[in-house]
Amino acid sequence: MCGIFAVVNDKNENAPQTVLDGLKKLEYRGYDSWGIAVRKLKTPIIEVEKHIGKIGEAKTSLPPSRVGLGHTRWATHGGVFDKNAHPHLDSKKQIAVVHNGIIENYLEIKEELIRKNHRFLSETDTEVVAHMIEETLKEKKDYSIGDFVAQVFAAFKRLTGSNAIGVLDSKTETIVACRNGSPLVVGVDERNHQLFLSSDIPALLKHTKKVYFLNDNEAAVLNKNLFQVYDLKKEKPKKIILETVNLKISDAEKEGYPHFLLKEIEEQKRTILKTIEKNQDRIREAAKFVKSRKIIFTGCGTAYHCALLGKYFFAKSGLAADAIQANEFSAFRYLIDDKTTVMAISQSGETADTLLAVKSAKKNKAKVLAVINSRGSTLERLSDFFIPIQTGPEIAVVSTKAFTSQLAVLYLLAKILVNKEKVALMKIRLLARKLSHWLDRGLKDQLINLAKKLLKEKHLYIIGKELNYPAALEFALKVKETAYTHAEAFASGELKHGVIALIEKGIPCFVLISKDEYENDLISAATEIKARNGTIFGVSPADAPVFDYHIPTPDVDELTIIPNIIVGQLLAYYLGVGKGADPDKPRNLAKSVTVK
Ligand code: G6P
Repeated sequence: MCGIFAVVNDKNENAPQTVLDGLKKLEYRGYDSWGIAVRKLKTPIIEVEKHIGKIGEAKTSLPPSRVGLGHTRWATHGGVFDKNAHPHLDSKKQIAVVHNGIIENYLEIKEELIRKNHRFLSETDTEVVAHMIEETLKEKKDYSIGDFVAQVFAAFKRLTGSNAIGVLDSKTETIVACRNGSPLVVGVDERNHQLFLSSDIPALLKHTKKVYFLNDNEAAVLNKNLFQVYDLKKEKPKKIILETVNLKISDAEKEGYPHFLLKEIEEQKRTILKTIEKNQDRIREAAKFVKSRKIIFTGCGTAYHCALLGKYFFAKSGLAADAIQANEFSAFRYLIDDKTTVMAISQSGETADTLLAVKSAKKNKAKVLAVINSRGSTLERLSDFFIPIQTGPEIAVVSTKAFTSQLAVLYLLAKILVNKEKVALMKIRLLARKLSHWLDRGLKDQLINLAKKLLKEKHLYIIGKELNYPAALEFALKVKETAYTHAEAFASGELKHGVIALIEKGIPCFVLISKDEYENDLISAATEIKARNGTIFGVSPADAPVFDYHIPTPDVDELTIIPNIIVGQLLAYYLGVGKGADPDKPRNLAKSVTVK
């Protein structure tokens, strides 16, 4: 939620373009508006450019510069107007600030500053930071880097909430970044003596693979002669070791696909098996964290659906587990104790509600096991043990390949716990083989045609039973997020208890089926819908007379839910494209929801 990107000592004196390119890679974090501030080459003047809406193919007209700071916004405080776009400046236009998070005490600070005659131009919480620094620096006529750094630290330490900021000072040509709760990573290009600051790795890959992930309560000071990390509590420099990230530039490119979403859906042919092959030992080790303990899965959105499927996989292995939406976790916190393992599922590892759930579980002495995709995340650090699914960056806002890889991890874990690892591995390999043939042009053409038929529909219903029920929830979520069509999932058994009242002539109803003992129940439910003139779309390995339309999926036993869900992913994609939506950046959403 909100992306920060900055460059110091840009080798081509083209900081505006470097920052713009970085922001384009971070746009998935928020796309209400974007903005860049640069320090002019020869004079200590900051120039700013801001626009509402997506960056798209935007160009910048900012002057040449070596130091620049930019932001892509998901609006929290203040509407989507130019004036609320970041960066925000102090009154003298010497200091520019970008911010990711929510400053909970900003009103109190703002009132104080207004009493001291500061004038605010935006409705944001962020703007107070620039004015706080200006206020304390004004006593020092000719301030040094040290003075500037100290005032940024003081201002940041006064903020409450989860925040990350980047502050550019035009006089000292320095950027200071502070982190408490929202992610920041520094990229170091040693060859060209350039430094970068970013909310996430994909924006850095073009420049360097050497990075340092800031921890909470750490700050980084970046200028042409200096890169220093500080412990914010002690205000003392810290020794750090740079990490080398194991990703390719192409991992963050569309590689000929019209959208990242389609690329990521297709990548599932490889990513599921890759996750398992890379993590087999870790999953075995994870089993130790889980064995004979109370298990609670948690996550938000798609990650919650994965959590729910985890609960089903465990139940099918005869293991008790619960799944709680991270945003509803507080109601259940008293159930957590030192015998509990909380399994937190998150692609980004930065979802605020998931982090809050994990923190409250840790307070009650639970162990935390995280299943994450983005390395270096807050959740990774908070966890006692983590499984990095390593599917490569997932850029489309809605989660697809991360979800199926996380699912495969939970499936294998459930099987390891009951000594059925071998057979589970066999099924995962079979799934990968079957997906690589099935997910082809033929399937896509079928779903393109289906999407055309369904384009004008206002409601879709999706039913499933047992594993296919959480699968139906995920199918529906994809359609809602990506195509803005109302899609509702029901457990087929619930139909008779009210839902069937919704069925009208022609209403499209998808039925997700696997070749299992529930196949007949689902066919019966479909028949009941058909009797009320609903139109039945069967998503299943086998055709059935009740289907008006059949979308065949490969039979992989309990893992059939994965192709069943992929049908939902692809249908949502083509419906979204057909409606003129941007499947990579659905309206009002952000990939990394770092505010609660
Ligand atoms: C946001 C995204 C969803 C995602 C959820 C959880 O709401 O729009 O697609 O499932 O966050 O994200 P996480 O990074 O924790 O998996």
